[in-house]
Amino acid sequence: MIELADVTFEYPDKTAAVKNLSLKIKAGEKIAILGGNGAGKSSLFLLLNGIHKTGSGKLYFKGQEVKYSKKDLLNLRKSTGIVFQDPETQIFSSSVYEEISFGLENLKYAENEIKARVDHALQLLEIADIKQKPTHLLSYGEKKKVSIAGILVMDPEILILDEPDACLDPVTVSNLIKLLDDLHQKGKTILMSTQDVNLAYSWAERIIVMKNGIILKDGLPSEIFSNLKVIKEASLELPVVYEIAVKLNIQSKFKQKPNIKKDDLIKYIKKNISP
Ligand SMILES: Nc1ncnc2c1ncn2[C@@H]1O[C@H](COP(=O)(O)OP(=O)(O)OP(=O)(O)O)[C@@H](O)[C@H]1O
Ligand SMILES: [Mg+2]
Repeated sequence: MIELADVTFEYPDKTAAVKNLSLKIKAGEKIAILGGNGAGKSSLFLLLNGIHKTGSGKLYFKGQEVKYSKKDLLNLRKSTGIVFQDPETQIFSSSVYEEISFGLENLKYAENEIKARVDHALQLLEIADIKQKPTHLLSYGEKKKVSIAGILVMDPEILILDEPDACLDPVTVSNLIKLLDDLHQKGKTILMSTQDVNLAYSWAERIIVMKNGIILKDGLPSEIFSNLKVIKEASLELPVVYEIAVKLNIQSKFKQKPNIKKDDLIKYIKKNISP
């Protein structure tokens, strides 16, 4: 679906944010990117969407090299919706409705189609009540929800979300995850960066760990978290569910691919361990 081949990217001040990185993402994957601050997660996402241009190496989309022509970029960006880490850099319209409908208006969708899609997104993110509100008056979390809604309405094939869970309340995160799972079921490819190892472990089918612009490890959640050297090096922690299973030495009791489910662990503990 989308591929980086030996890509290096430097900012104008010569910071190499991504170094000789190769990565293949297949259609329908559900991937979490983990890594400490400054690891290169956001830079990687901006490369995948063509906002940053590769310094060296190549970007491929559906098997074709992206040459950064207007046509190539339009084609790539139509299919890859990116939610920026900071909603302040995403939101530029004056009202919530205008912001969410902007992309659809731009593509000249029919008014009733726009209204239906925006209303649906407002509902999904539970922000219908602020539909007419000026965007500059929104709380940070509300801005985050609006920027997510603005991408969802576009219905892109690949969804790239840069720390969508940061600053959202737990119920909203859990609703967002349900929503992403639903979209994944419908065949969407989803990439999400997060600082929450519990979320990454329970949600992702594949995890990529980054540090200093390189991929330290790429694999199943169970493979990632069984590698303590990588976890330490990337400034991560073990997910609670996984850590409990390891401390009780019962990991082998679960069909662990890609992860141990919280409910299964509770069931096992109730049956075998708790008095
Ligand atoms: N506009 C910029 N100009 C110069 N250097 C930058 C710029 N943006 C990011 N960097 C640098 O690039 C590196 C990677 O940053 P990036 O934002 O991709 O990391 P990240 O993994 O997303 O971090 P975080 O978890 O803090 O969001 C860092 O060393 C950062 O200082
Ligand atoms: Mg970032």
